[in-house]
Amino acid sequence: MGNEAWLYYNTVEDETLRKEYQVRCSAIAVTGRTELLSTAERELTEALQAMTGHTPEVVHLRDRQIPSVIIGVLGSEDTGADLEVGAEAARIGDEGYIIRSMAGREGMADRIVVIGKSDRGALYGTFHLIRLMQMREPIHDLHIVETPANGLRMINQWDNMDGSIERGYAGKSIFYKNNGFVEDLTRIREYARLLSSVGINAISINNVNVHEEETKLITAVYENKLTKVADVFRAYGIQLFLSINFASPITVGGLPTADPLDPSVRHWWHERASSLYQAIPDFGGFLVKADSEFRPGPFTYGRDHADGANMLAEALAPHGGLVIWRCFVYNCLQDWRDRSTDRARAAYDHFMPLDGRFADNVILQIKNGPMDFQVREPVSPLFGGLRDTNQVLELQITQEYTGQQRHVCYLVPQWKEILDSETYAAGGGATVARIAKGATFNRPYGGMAAVSNIGDDACWTGHPLAQANLYGYGRLAWSPSLSAERITSEWIRLSLGSDPAVEEVVTSILMKSWGIYENYTAPLGVGWMVNPNHHYGPNVDGYEYSKWGTYHFADCRGIGVDRTIETGTGYTAQYHSPRREMYNSLESCPDELLLFFHHVPYTHVLHSGKTVIQHIYDSHFEGAEAAAALLEDWRSIKGKINEDYFELVASRLLEQREHAKEWRDIINTYFYRKSGIADLQNRLIY
Ligand code: GCU
Repeated sequence: MGNEAWLYYNTVEDETLRKEYQVRCSAIAVTGRTELLSTAERELTEALQAMTGHTPEVVHLRDRQIPSVIIGVLGSEDTGADLEVGAEAARIGDEGYIIRSMAGREGMADRIVVIGKSDRGALYGTFHLIRLMQMREPIHDLHIVETPANGLRMINQWDNMDGSIERGYAGKSIFYKNNGFVEDLTRIREYARLLSSVGINAISINNVNVHEEETKLITAVYENKLTKVADVFRAYGIQLFLSINFASPITVGGLPTADPLDPSVRHWWHERASSLYQAIPDFGGFLVKADSEFRPGPFTYGRDHADGANMLAEALAPHGGLVIWRCFVYNCLQDWRDRSTDRARAAYDHFMPLDGRFADNVILQIKNGPMDFQVREPVSPLFGGLRDTNQVLELQITQEYTGQQRHVCYLVPQWKEILDSETYAAGGGATVARIAKGATFNRPYGGMAAVSNIGDDACWTGHPLAQANLYGYGRLAWSPSLSAERITSEWIRLSLGSDPAVEEVVTSILMKSWGIYENYTAPLGVGWMVNPNHHYGPNVDGYEYSKWGTYHFADCRGIGVDRTIETGTGYTAQYHSPRREMYNSLESCPDELLLFFHHVPYTHVLHSGKTVIQHIYDSHFEGAEAAAALLEDWRSIKGKINEDYFELVASRLLEQREHAKEWRDIINTYFYRKSGIADLQNRLIY
């Protein structure tokens, strides 16, 4: 429990069920011998051994006397009519699968068929079957048809080659150490299993801020090691990507320029791409952070993002590679007195004029909100804005601004809100989920990417409950329409077993946690009240007078950022109607985003009927109290789960309880002193 995360297999306690699994899966037959089918066979074998105590026999497809699981690829020669999946086959996409239980007849024993359109699909189907048994579900009457909603289901590692992880809260990198790759790739393989089991199919393995050593990852220096890591991920159906430094032609290529229109630069990238693909024929492509937070980019040469991205795209296109270009671009040298520059506007202002200019194999990667992964933000207006450009939604699993894996903050409910958010870009139904997958505007590529939260920590994620965020991300990337409740229940049963009391308590902790965290931190969508640099803990003015463009403008009269069309920065105009009007008007703006869009006096009355100042006091007292109650809830399951796991979470929740009080007191005190308005309930505010 803990280090296996959700691939935790233990003996099935119920004897009848255990026997059933054992008998129905007495043998495994695999159609064809691809690497992924071998992985599937091995994974199922290991899972069955652990859960039933029996090793399934590996048989030939034509051995029909033993009940077996048949793992295969649709239409592959061996499968023939045997697989009887009929019309359903047409319903699944390239990575989809069908699982069917088939009763035995005419000398043929019972079978469970796990059939993919591709071997990758067959592997996903196998993990699905394993998941069912982990959750102690019956398997005699399976009729499952699955296809991932998103083509790209990607993880971004922010790992550096010195072993550190940018915004990492779970130990050191599992990939690198002392400016090189780790020798032992076991942990990377374990990670690949976890990711594959939830359907992840792409990973970039170095930080988007590409420093000196990491710039060399695309050169011959690291080719051997890189190839080995690619091998590990390939066995689990995951394509390898690298973050690149736009200035590489200068830094490692010895050229005088990195101008994307310079022929020698273009040639250099072509050469690099060719040798990368020689070493790794299925290499995914490049992830690029350019002209953002001091990273080099095309602006230096008077070129724009499309020039930069298309130049790389041209080099990768002959090999089928992709350029994933990030939209996290803004002025990070702002003057706080300048009220006309609005960081929230930046991504849209930069990229909308370029809509339609990007090559077919370029995808723009857009953070969910216009600022930077705050606990509450509106959805980026680029979703629904861009029509002629491939896009993926970028989420942050690592809890940079959401408690750094010291606090429990389950992000699946937040992501659900984002995915379900209606953009009004094409009448009804143009949700972020549909746009990101490429459906609304019929794009060739789309999907989701997210910044990982793992490290070499024994339980992977620092806080064991933070594993649920990684699991939930994978599940949502596969199917954004899954409910938060379903994902939560799966994760708990897979990771902690099927005790209903455990499920009830852990569900309640997880499902409440985002709201609780929001309550005791920055209020009403305003964000950024954190300590500079490391971003942990409360500091109301921590970023207020800095260069980063992250202001709340609190003074003795009021607080909030006026982003309206009439008197503010005009940011609300980036949305389609009626969202534009809804945010623009003080009357209709939802409470939870009020201070993101409006500057109001502390006495402004919210829809809830409370004044802003009273809301600040109440939510902070309630939030801190609720954080304390999480620990009590957790204590009620002592003895029902592994003790070390229990104690680790308990110690984290204790820390959270104390830090929530610190948040409460610092925020309340600040606003009491600023506003001079007393708490209606006369609670202790310093
Ligand atoms: C955040 C984060 C940085 C990161 C950046 C990005 O601002 O604090 O560490 O580099 O996002 O997404 O590029």
